Amino acid sequence: MPEEKKNDVMEKIVSLCKRRGFVFQGSEIYGGLSGVYDYGPMGVELRNNIKQYFWDTFVINREDVYGLSAAILMPETVWEASGHVGKLGLVDPIVECKICHERVRADQPEAIADHEATHKGKKVEWSEPKVFNLLVETKLGASEDTATRVNLRGEITQGIHVNFKNILDSMHPKIPFGIGQIGKAFRNEITPRDFLFRQREFEQMEVQYYIKPDEEEGLIQFEYWKNLAMEWYLGLGFRKESLRFRQHASDERAHYAKDAWDIEYNTPFAGWKEAWGIHHRGDWDLKRHSEYSKVDLSYYDEESKSRFIPWDIECSGGVDRAFLFVLLEAYTEDKLGDDLRTYLKLSPKIAPVKIAVFPLLKNKEILVEKAREVYKLLKKKFGAVVFDDNGNIGKRYRRQDEIGTPWCVTVDFETVEKDAGVTVRDRDTGEQKRMSIEELVSYVKSQLS
Ligand code: GAP
Repeated sequence: MPEEKKNDVMEKIVSLCKRRGFVFQGSEIYGGLSGVYDYGPMGVELRNNIKQYFWDTFVINREDVYGLSAAILMPETVWEASGHVGKLGLVDPIVECKICHERVRADQPEAIADHEATHKGKKVEWSEPKVFNLLVETKLGASEDTATRVNLRGEITQGIHVNFKNILDSMHPKIPFGIGQIGKAFRNEITPRDFLFRQREFEQMEVQYYIKPDEEEGLIQFEYWKNLAMEWYLGLGFRKESLRFRQHASDERAHYAKDAWDIEYNTPFAGWKEAWGIHHRGDWDLKRHSEYSKVDLSYYDEESKSRFIPWDIECSGGVDRAFLFVLLEAYTEDKLGDDLRTYLKLSPKIAPVKIAVFPLLKNKEILVEKAREVYKLLKKKFGAVVFDDNGNIGKRYRRQDEIGTPWCVTVDFETVEKDAGVTVRDRDTGEQKRMSIEELVSYVKSQLS
């Protein structure tokens, strides 16, 4: 794809997201907050559908993974134990531009190049790299003297590890078992960029899977979780060629990782970018939390009559990145003569609206009444159904296409006068078929399962 065309797609997605109620800049009327976004009515539905699909696959439909929702605020000691505060961990090298003093990540050549381009050919000199703590700090407590410094979690992982013993004591799981969680994480990213790709407030979905400390078991489980994550991602509607695995080089791995692989998406804005991380964390976290909290986080294995600190295979994805990549993958333009039809080819399973119901004419009471009746019936069955009588049919189709609604149902005179069913228009082919309501319900059910 030519360069200007690639960036074009990202710009079109940003504009579609605002126009159709998917995503808005955070606190926009006050000038916006960099790296922070709000999700609108369509966005929240798409996001929830992605999260539900994660939860079903990784937690609900399994016997060996327990759900958790831990707090966002955690004491600083947690981050010392995990290695995120101090010499290791969530620290980024940054350099400062000597012309305008803006700071940029030293380890992101594209950010450096973008910044140098803003000085239009002038030679840019940079300061020596300095280390910058990515954790967002705040205080808890009413007065300055009694306030305790806490951090907003930089990864949801630590909420899981600090609850390891609680899950052991309350659920009595047998190893191997996992703990799954979805929740917000916060990072003081120096250069938030590329819309939802790198934000300061974002959401993660992950499983920490605890296994016996055994090399062979580690390899088997690592492979299993890598493949499950890829299968799940493909299930969002991606083409195989849009995704790939990439192993981290040893100097690229986080401080806790014995091995690390990413699932990457081939973005139109910057080529292959991380969507999901699978990390072999060994016994790093539980061991460190045992040392720092002085609470024994070992596991007693009845089978082998031995006690050990389990190893952990981490499977961690970004909700916002999945959301952005889904939109980039689904965005489609079809040329119809001089007209351009734009639509989101979303998998029906995650589409924010499944069906839109229209009366052919908005000022014919008999049509509106019947359309409302059909709408109510479908809404009861499928929930995410809308009624739309705004503008002409063409405009309604265009609106629903940009939201990614798979089926538009029109109630016309034949529906009312001849009991001839409704016309159902398919988003991707544009084909219209007449169906009875019963046929429509079973067709949609089959497509959603
Ligand atoms: N617990 C491991 C961990 O946090 P990570 O690779 O830093 O690993 C996991 O993050 C996932 O979270 C990434 O694959 C990405 O999808 C998402 N993510 C990380 N930083 C992000 C950011 N600044 N904005 C949006 N998503 C982010």
